[in-house]
Amino acid sequence: MNELICVGCGPGDPDLLTVKAVKAIKNADVIMCPTSKEGKTSIAYSIVSSVINDSKPEVVNLVFPMVKEKSILEETWKKNTKIIVDAVNSGKRVVYLTVGDPYLYSTWIYLHRELQTKYPGIKIKVIPGIVSLFTFASKVGISIAEGSETVAVIPSCYDLSRVKDTAKNCDTMIFLKDGRYFDKVVQLLKEAGFQDNSIFAIGQDLDTEDEVVRKLTLGEVTKETFTNKYFSIMVVKRA
Ligand SMILES: C[S@@+](CC[C@H](N)C(=O)[O-])C[C@H]1O[C@@H](n2cnc3c(N)ncnc32)[C@H](O)[C@@H]1O
Repeated sequence: MNELICVGCGPGDPDLLTVKAVKAIKNADVIMCPTSKEGKTSIAYSIVSSVINDSKPEVVNLVFPMVKEKSILEETWKKNTKIIVDAVNSGKRVVYLTVGDPYLYSTWIYLHRELQTKYPGIKIKVIPGIVSLFTFASKVGISIAEGSETVAVIPSCYDLSRVKDTAKNCDTMIFLKDGRYFDKVVQLLKEAGFQDNSIFAIGQDLDTEDEVVRKLTLGEVTKETFTNKYFSIMVVKRA
């Protein structure tokens, strides 16, 4: 049976690729790489490029525009799934790349659903990757949870109305996706009982030459503390 392998590539450092990921990448005939715009280098591809240099697979960019319109998204998932399916059915060993782990806010989740419902004959293997937020925790030395603590992971570029209620019941709040919205939630966290001595850490473009990492307390945060790019992470933890 034809097989498709989805590979979690970790957050950016090729040394954080798993051995299994490297084996799958080196063995692939075709590597499918998600990107947000036509002609834009895929971030996932840039993580693995040093590994695939000598194996020379065909590299195909699949465009997933960063929009919220359901109809455009569904059309994109359908179209890109078909491209993957055609490659698998032609007998090629196909690998689909994704940043971090495939099951956390990844395009893979939608492709997987489309594959399961429309192409049940395609055998799927998924190789987990190191999640960005754990890479960040290692860089700043913050425990994501210990003992009885609870954790929330929130994508910061959607409706933030649930943040305050969630924060009341959580010890560690992790914000992913667009750093340009992070400043909006700090006030909500304070209103939910996060004190000025809470641990605060923010990161951007981890494992790249533009990496930004800051660790301070919630009370020390100013406008200048925030990051301004999509590839940002913010962690706030009760002291
Ligand atoms: C579409 S989600 C993908 C998450 C990914 N599947 C994971 O397991 O980490 C993209 C978000 O992950 C976070 N992220 C992933 N890699 C990152 C990096 N190298 N530096 C900073 N943030 C990163 C950012 O919050 C970014 O907006």
